[in-house]
Amino acid sequence: MPLDLSTTICGKKLSTCIYNASGPRTGSSDALSKVASSRSGAVLAKSATVNEQTGNPLPRTFQADGKGSLNSEGLPNKGIDYYLSQDTIEESMGESGKPYFVSISGHNLADNLAMLKKIDSVDGVSGVELNLACPNVIGHPIIAYDFDQMDAVLSAVSKLKLQKPLGVKLPPYFDGPHFAAAAKVLNKYKSSISYAASINTVGNALVVDTVAEMPAISPKGGFGGLSGPAVKYTALANVKKMRDLLDETIDVVGVGGVETGEDAFQFLLCGAAAVQVGTKHWIEGAKCFDRIVGELEELMEKKGYKSVGEFRGKLKPWSKEGASKSRKAKKMSGGGNTRAEQAKIPVGKGGILPTIIVSFLLGLLLATAGFSAAGGDVTMGGFVPFGSLLKIHDGLEGARMGGKKKREL
Ligand code: SIN
Repeated sequence: MPLDLSTTICGKKLSTCIYNASGPRTGSSDALSKVASSRSGAVLAKSATVNEQTGNPLPRTFQADGKGSLNSEGLPNKGIDYYLSQDTIEESMGESGKPYFVSISGHNLADNLAMLKKIDSVDGVSGVELNLACPNVIGHPIIAYDFDQMDAVLSAVSKLKLQKPLGVKLPPYFDGPHFAAAAKVLNKYKSSISYAASINTVGNALVVDTVAEMPAISPKGGFGGLSGPAVKYTALANVKKMRDLLDETIDVVGVGGVETGEDAFQFLLCGAAAVQVGTKHWIEGAKCFDRIVGELEELMEKKGYKSVGEFRGKLKPWSKEGASKSRKAKKMSGGGNTRAEQAKIPVGKGGILPTIIVSFLLGLLLATAGFSAAGGDVTMGGFVPFGSLLKIHDGLEGARMGGKKKREL
């Protein structure tokens, strides 16, 4: 039986729980059509403003060392009418039958309200994501870091009584009271909000070019939103926290540093109803959705899960039993997990015991056969392997000391 990777957000069925984030490669029907024809479960357009705009001055993006990416695009987009036109929707979605979502990030509340009213009557739009988290609009702080402003925006939006489902894109939060304050505001408008997407980029990061002794990008003094693997753990924490704090009627959509099926699995474990991919989509193109979905299937198969619902939101508390299971699994797969392996001590795959036995036997052999036959120093012959043993022991102790020292620090 095929695995079931489907999910539901805002009451819309997605054939797979992986889809694109609003961001790179989502600004035109050409780009969106590539997403639609991949295994992405839905298609989400670039955050739109009322009118077309070119965004911040170039260069405004930087791919840093495979660990993080920086952008300060300033919402370049073709204007909301483009993303709502039947031509765009048709060209983007083709015969895919997948949900099509738009995203908005107006210059002000009036813009957002005007765009929401427009969106609400357009056929072929499954829902709208309201971006409360863009860090790159010059002169505009991130809305969702100002809880009063966030409340005012959502209050005005809720008064529109929209027919289309509404999602909100959130910035990362880092402290308990901030998670709680954000969740409180969102829960207040739970009848108007279908999902919360956590997280947008980590705002106002800076990449420095050592050679030129200047920032790597031009806008905002080089400050931009950080994305990619560097933000995955922050994103996971935000998804987990939001899932714990938000009303159960509000889905959490996970986004931030997702590169593999395993990453997606982790977000689902933390309670994400679906997982968006942004930076990896930017780097790899729409084929990343086929790969990530395939990897998630493989992992589910290995773990014996038939559907996403079987493990979603079921992150277990830390336990000694879990840690030991994990250690054993890593050891079996040859992953460096024991202290000896971490210290690069030359032990066999089976661990230290076979190495000791082999060394001992070798010592015995040399002592009794090789060296005595050659009239050599029997004792010396015996010492060679035992010397290795001592080194192994020293190494282990060193590793232990290293571990201890680290803990003490
Ligand atoms: C941008 O266009 O600056 C990125 C969009 C966002 O971070 O919301």
